[in-house]
Amino acid sequence: MNPERLSSNDIINNMSLKNKFVRDQLVQPIFIHEDEKSESSIPGLGKNRILFKSNVIESISRDLKNGCRNFILFFVPKNKSNTRFNAEFQENILLKIKKEFDSEIVIWVDLCLCSFTKSGHCCLFEDQKINYTESLKIMSDIGLSYVRGGADGIAPSSMLNGIVNSARMKLDSHNFKHIPIMSYSTKFASNFYGPFRAAADSSPSFGDRTSYQLDYTDKENAIKSSIKFSDEGADLLMVKPGLLSLDLIEPIALKTKKPIGAYQVSGEYSSLVYLADNKLIDFDSGLLETWSSFKRAGAQYIISYGSRYAKRLGI
Ligand code: PBG
Repeated sequence: MNPERLSSNDIINNMSLKNKFVRDQLVQPIFIHEDEKSESSIPGLGKNRILFKSNVIESISRDLKNGCRNFILFFVPKNKSNTRFNAEFQENILLKIKKEFDSEIVIWVDLCLCSFTKSGHCCLFEDQKINYTESLKIMSDIGLSYVRGGADGIAPSSMLNGIVNSARMKLDSHNFKHIPIMSYSTKFASNFYGPFRAAADSSPSFGDRTSYQLDYTDKENAIKSSIKFSDEGADLLMVKPGLLSLDLIEPIALKTKKPIGAYQVSGEYSSLVYLADNKLIDFDSGLLETWSSFKRAGAQYIISYGSRYAKRLGI
């Protein structure tokens, strides 16, 4: 564990502050599609839009003006494959973003294969079994490309055993020892990822994700999973879906002593959007209440589709 990974950057350092609620603890997800012709609206996610190389700078500039400077990127390539992957378009966009904003912002990149594979799965399968060796190698290589493009940190979300360790070793052996890993560490096979999968074009074409995501009825295993990814070398941990995992934050923090975040997932965020659209709640107050409950439960950082509104909400 290298504590400097979290302290050498202001924004990342703020993310892990305990007993404080500051704006840098809110991470804004951004979807970037390679195909400029794809649909940009995202059903359920309010004003969130799919972005492209041509408008990503403009969009981040707007967020930055509103004080939002911590982002997690989800890349969606034009062509899917089950065998050949590269991260060229992603690297190009990252270089463009970094050139424009440099250290004014922090860019995390979600590291997974579900938007890349024809199968829509987070990993590669062979004879209906997960091919660990190949999946880990490909993902770690892609992680390295993201960091070469200028990502400030990577966020492995596949939940594959060994992914954090293998991504860490890859970065370390290429002089990126200082780059932090934010691990999706307790991630359930949840019903609440629907709007995301539409945006990320990542629905599984067969089966479901229960062979690698966690069973939400099993508390003990949910806690163990975060401990495992912590032991693999994660710098930051995460529970997901956030609102449905509030009970897990404290036990994980006690066991690992590492900063933990909560991902307010697409289905959770959409519920607020729908309620507000139907005039059943006030959006801003409702959103703020959910964030406050993450903080009350002991989360350091929050990933939310409404992070860019933090200033408007008084944070
Ligand atoms: C990719 C990934 C998913 C989410 C974040 N990263 C989808 C999934 O696991 O199916 C979900 C986020 C959301 O619903 O907001 N593996």
